[in-house]
Amino acid sequence: MVQVELQVNGKSVSRAVEDRTLLVEFLRQTLGMTGTHVGCDTTQCGACTVNLNGMAVKSCTILVAQASGGSVVTVEGLAKNGELHPVQNAFVQCHGLQCGFCTPGMIMATERFLSKRPSSLDDETIHCALEGNICRCTGYVNIIEAVRHAAHDMYPDLPQSANEKGNA
Ligand code: FES
Ligand code: FES
Repeated sequence: MVQVELQVNGKSVSRAVEDRTLLVEFLRQTLGMTGTHVGCDTTQCGACTVNLNGMAVKSCTILVAQASGGSVVTVEGLAKNGELHPVQNAFVQCHGLQCGFCTPGMIMATERFLSKRPSSLDDETIHCALEGNICRCTGYVNIIEAVRHAAHDMYPDLPQSANEKGNA
């Protein structure tokens, strides 16, 4: 067993866990936070993406012991004071989900991508930002639209990219 201590969505958490416990297992099974999904368990799909110390990481690929001392934000931690995060809102507004299984990971990856003002919102840039995330429903058109919607919401002066009009 190993003692881990970390911040999860701004709250201090301390638990004794088996050494081999993955971060995603810790979130879902130890803390009961099931918003972070497990799609593949083999670093392929991105459904388990969380923000660890400011970076989007696949939580099925890291031991919680490795994250100890750090700060984790999950999809449950994005809304503030009852208001959805702009990225969450954009996925709702743009119908950026079908079954919803990939959605927490897509939202977390998008939130990290847009945590800094993007230099471009063209297709290639967004594809690169979300390249680690797979949607088995293949709902990419609306997902990409949601990314752009969120970007313009968060950075209202962002110019429109040349290829962003309806050809995502
Ligand atoms: S569950 Fe982690 S990448 Fe698929
Ligand atoms: S909405 Fe079903 S996997 Fe993406």
